[in-house]
Amino acid sequence: MRRISERSVDGTGKAVDCTRLMKKFVKRTLIFLVLMIAVIAGFVFFKSRSRLGKTYTVAEHRIVVPQSAAAIAEGKRLYISRGCIDCHGADLSGATFLDAGPIGRYTGSNLTKGKGGSAARLNDVEFERALRHGVSKNGKPLVFMPSVDFAGMSDEDTGRLIAYIRSAPPVDKVSPRQKIGPLARVLYVAGKMPLLTSAEMIDHNAQSPAKVDPTVSADYGKYIAQTCTGCHGTNLAGGPIPGAPPEWPPAQDIRGKALSKYNEAQFIQSIKTGKRPDGSEIRFPMPWKNFSQMTDTEIKALYLYLKTL
Ligand code: HEC
Ligand code: HEC
Repeated sequence: MRRISERSVDGTGKAVDCTRLMKKFVKRTLIFLVLMIAVIAGFVFFKSRSRLGKTYTVAEHRIVVPQSAAAIAEGKRLYISRGCIDCHGADLSGATFLDAGPIGRYTGSNLTKGKGGSAARLNDVEFERALRHGVSKNGKPLVFMPSVDFAGMSDEDTGRLIAYIRSAPPVDKVSPRQKIGPLARVLYVAGKMPLLTSAEMIDHNAQSPAKVDPTVSADYGKYIAQTCTGCHGTNLAGGPIPGAPPEWPPAQDIRGKALSKYNEAQFIQSIKTGKRPDGSEIRFPMPWKNFSQMTDTEIKALYLYLKTL
């Protein structure tokens, strides 16, 4: 670089070296910026750590865990159609469902009664608290377990899920700790990744229904639609999926008008096969494979409910 060594005269008449002044200015600015970044990083780290370390007290909620083969089979259907399988695996031993550099690496727990599995550690009350409240055995929030979608699940369905989990063959596997990346912490503190701790979003005093009867009604559809809100948003209006890797398409609007391209039969077909009536593919991560386990009553009720929005 060409060296400029012009000299100028300031107000006092003293000669000042411009190059030196510039260097000083740049150095100070850099130090200031580094300090600012350190302060912000520290703030993000401590703020996220304090939220992730919060202890929740949730009232004991005893539910009946049925033993019949029919109830266990229904528990399995729920396990698949409500999406547990994506994060906890087909054998319930846990699966890494998100591994995205600065966002982090997240793995669903081994739920089986094998060594390191949840069923070997948790009683039914603790299972209920994990599932519907997103709170772990030690009272801390579970990380990235989307309990906000399951908080409204009936006692009956929760019992069936626990029954299925307890019936699954044991797998010995220690669940790894969640790796929460720095970008996830920034997004979380900025309110852009609320799913990191579902426990914060749940009203822990709300009363879940004891039983919800499967009928083709908008009410039942609303109950089922809790499975859709994690991606399509609480109002089901769609948009970018919180915390998703950049290659995922945004979830679409699935309220009334947006569904005008589907009649009821086409809607059932599309939810089960992942193909729109015009033949186009509803892309990943829309979990239509799981939804192929939904009953027609569930999907008809969903259709009725979504049409009302
Ligand atoms: C988006 C992924 C995801 C989905 C879907 C999901 N889970 Fe989880 N779940 C997790 C993660 C991650 C953890 C571990 C959280 C932690 O380590 O803090 C977890 C933890 C749990 C725990 C607590 C385990 C323990 O030992 O404390 C239970 C029980 C559980 N999940 C059951 C379910 C069931 C049943 C469903 C379906 C109704 C489900 N999960 C759906 C990601 C998921
Ligand atoms: C894991 C995230 C995820 C979940 C859970 C999810 N969806 Fe989707 N869904 C998507 C994404 C992403 C798209 C957009 C796909 C595309 O652009 O090809 C989509 C698209 C759709 C479409 C196509 C909309 C159109 O305009 O043609 C329908 C219908 C739909 N979802 C219904 C549902 C219903 C009903 C549920 C709950 C039972 C649900 N989805 C749950 C991610 C999800």
